[in-house]
Amino acid sequence: MANRRFLITAALPYSNGRLHVGHIAGAYVPADTYVRYLRATGADVRFICGSDDNGVAALKTAREQGKSVEELTAHFNACQKRDFDGLGIEFDIYGGTHQPDYAKTHEKFCQDLFLKIHEKGFFTKRSTKQLYDTEAEQFLPDRYVKGTCPHCNSDNAFGDQCEGCGRAIDQLSLVNPISVMTGTKPELRETIHWYLRLDQLQGKLSEWLASKKDVAACGAQWRATVLNQSLGRIEAEGLPERAMTRDLTWGVPVPLDDPDAEGKSLYVWFDAPIGYVSFTGALCEKNGEGLDAYADWWKNPDCNVVHFIGEDNIVFHAITWPAMMLASHDSDDLQGIKGEYQLPHNVVSNSFLNIKFPGKEEEKISKSRGTAVWIEDYLKTFDPDPLRYYLTAIAPESARTAFDIDDFVNRNNTELVNAFGNFFNRTMTFAHKYFDGKVPAVGSRDDVDTQHLARCEQAVEKTGAELEACHFKAGLSEVMALARAGNGYFDVTKPFLSRKTDMDVCGRAINVCFQTARTLTTLIAPFLPATAEKCAKMLNLDDNWQSWANATEQLPAGHAIGEAEILVKKLDPKEVFAE
Ligand code: 2FM
Ligand code: ZN
Repeated sequence: MANRRFLITAALPYSNGRLHVGHIAGAYVPADTYVRYLRATGADVRFICGSDDNGVAALKTAREQGKSVEELTAHFNACQKRDFDGLGIEFDIYGGTHQPDYAKTHEKFCQDLFLKIHEKGFFTKRSTKQLYDTEAEQFLPDRYVKGTCPHCNSDNAFGDQCEGCGRAIDQLSLVNPISVMTGTKPELRETIHWYLRLDQLQGKLSEWLASKKDVAACGAQWRATVLNQSLGRIEAEGLPERAMTRDLTWGVPVPLDDPDAEGKSLYVWFDAPIGYVSFTGALCEKNGEGLDAYADWWKNPDCNVVHFIGEDNIVFHAITWPAMMLASHDSDDLQGIKGEYQLPHNVVSNSFLNIKFPGKEEEKISKSRGTAVWIEDYLKTFDPDPLRYYLTAIAPESARTAFDIDDFVNRNNTELVNAFGNFFNRTMTFAHKYFDGKVPAVGSRDDVDTQHLARCEQAVEKTGAELEACHFKAGLSEVMALARAGNGYFDVTKPFLSRKTDMDVCGRAINVCFQTARTLTTLIAPFLPATAEKCAKMLNLDDNWQSWANATEQLPAGHAIGEAEILVKKLDPKEVFAE
């Protein structure tokens, strides 16, 4: 396989709160799994994330908590980084759009792109009416206004987006708007903003999105939810122009020499995706390649950019962000030629995750109602891999699913422990007891043996194909099916009986079990990195055990294995529920 290059991003979390299982299931575990898999195939990959510090979210929380916004965002940036580390989600860089080490570079990238789009004529400066809080004496940007959604009637709609139906909305279309800051009814006042001419970019955007329906031609498997919410929305409703500036001073200043731009910032959804680019630049600088090396990832058709996001981010990643990049192009090329921002190869989105506590109804995860499992709390008691396993096994890849605490315990104990862990355990224990801690001789394999080894080869192929297509749940299920097949092989060949009658026959079976365990170690690694490390240590594998190409490499007879250890711990429901 030619050396492939990927720039993978995971949505920048707002730095105004802690991470919960919903966040992790949505974008981060899938992205990390994909990165690990790609690296196993020899691809050159950079994995980018960081906090989304600008805009109203952090400002509002800082005000509520009586902290400075700098202090608040620094605190949560550090908490998020710690939680990601704890789960084995290993970014190459974790930046922050307003963190001291990144803010200047970030501002420059944002302002450069804004000016380029301005120069290309894709902004219109427009005087507009906006909601103004007379008590707080300020315009109310986006999430500072709450009301009823004009599309779905949900009362949980904000001035940028409805939490009920996920649609992007204009604050003026909110029914019964209320200021979130003071709870008063805002009034309409004149202000000036710069609007991105999405209406003029719509034709190209539709053509580009339509090209993503053809999997073979575009080389990526776009999920139906992403195409429906982007192309489907454009076809049904068309694209109105959207304001890319705000009356706000916390953010990236509007870089125009125009008195009307004073006191205004770029819209947070304009600056946030540019964070992916500016953090890439910061990473290149850190690696000694210089800031400009970012272009080798972002402006090079050789590199595939893939964004991992939650469903509420689809519109911004599949419409607004590509539109910003298209608007900056000099060429007419849909994807962008070398030297221009490349539109994403894929945008991989998951739906939301609900939660179900024992004895209660399934419900939405809610910070305010306290219905969440916080990563910080989880990691105080448990290992990362049971959570990674469960969140992939129930991944909301095409529709909402629920984190069911009973089911989490049950699947850990019956699937990870009883199927996967048990297969390693019985193979290792047997070899230590009867074969002096060594892989026994191959012997003369019969049909059952060769068919089982062919099954291992197929599992490598099938799991790889699923992961290429970002079908993580299906990929994991292939791996688990091989673990169960390993147990099935052990049960059918009965080494526990043949050891009493024919040690050659017994050794032959244990040899095949070791080859299966060897394959499982590579296959499980993208999903459960810590568990895979333990497997590799037990099997005493050499350094390149993660390479996908080596997954069915045979362990030679006489290979000395390591100590047997417990791979996955059984979870005690009482302990879990107490937590
Ligand atoms: O929804 C969110 O949490 C946003 N902070 C995601 C931003 S993704 C990107 F564009 F940076
Ligand atoms: Zn709605």
